[in-house]
Amino acid sequence: MARLHDLGSVDLYTEGAMPPDVLGQRVAGKDALVCLLTDDINKSVIDAGTRLKVIANVAVGYNNIDVAYARSRGMVVTNTPDVLTESVADFTWAMILAITRRLAEGDRLVRRGEWKGWALDFMLGTELKGKQLGLVGLGRIARAVAVRAPVFGMRVAYTDIATVEGPFEKMSLDRLLNTSDVVSLHVNLTSATRHLIDKKALTRMKRSAYLVNTARGPVVEEAALAWALQERLIAGAALDVYENEPAVHPDLLRFENVLLVPHLASATTETRTAMANLAADNVAAVLAGRPPLTPVLE
Ligand code: GLV
Repeated sequence: MARLHDLGSVDLYTEGAMPPDVLGQRVAGKDALVCLLTDDINKSVIDAGTRLKVIANVAVGYNNIDVAYARSRGMVVTNTPDVLTESVADFTWAMILAITRRLAEGDRLVRRGEWKGWALDFMLGTELKGKQLGLVGLGRIARAVAVRAPVFGMRVAYTDIATVEGPFEKMSLDRLLNTSDVVSLHVNLTSATRHLIDKKALTRMKRSAYLVNTARGPVVEEAALAWALQERLIAGAALDVYENEPAVHPDLLRFENVLLVPHLASATTETRTAMANLAADNVAAVLAGRPPLTPVLE
């Protein structure tokens, strides 16, 4: 906020996601828009912002913005890559460990007062050593997840359009789903990746495998995931993102072998501060006629 105040007057909205009509009214006459992934920056909002030079999203994902339309109107769109890579990679591993070792399930059991004491065969989880981590998409965050894999003794497979240097095996999505013990999603949400993980994809996974999603909710068809869990087609799932946040498909709430986290992967004080500062610095650059630091070029 201090950085933005240095640039001029700031109209601050503090009540969460802005309703589209409010957004349309408040954006009129403004030079810059700093927005969150919960704000829907659609064509009508962009049309209302006739003076806008820059739309700075405080997120690395930008599926909430009609980027092509904004750019066609001469606006610069920016996001916040890099500064959140490590915290999201750490969190992905927190989720992998939590679901394979049944942390949340155990916590719930203790809180219910149902723990009867230590037993040799009680609440057994799955070991990671010697298993395959399958990364769907190998961008910045997935690579940071991949470099942590040897610490846990996991080998890494990935599927991506690009081929990436490193001790990672590139394979088709089908083969990755077929052979991985943990499948972790790291693709952008686009029309090509919406419901990438549907019934067919889930059927391809091993019955002993886990699905982890820290990307965007609609990459997974939640109804299909609930079906796959019901049919015991996979061992479990860990979700940080959902199709209709903050709603969660009610069927998913029924399963003990699903970890449900409220979109927290980048939520550290350090990272969220860096994301906010980067968004403000992008605004400052564009308003001063300089190139933005982290433009979205799609
Ligand atoms: C969070 O989901 C982000 O895209 O930064």
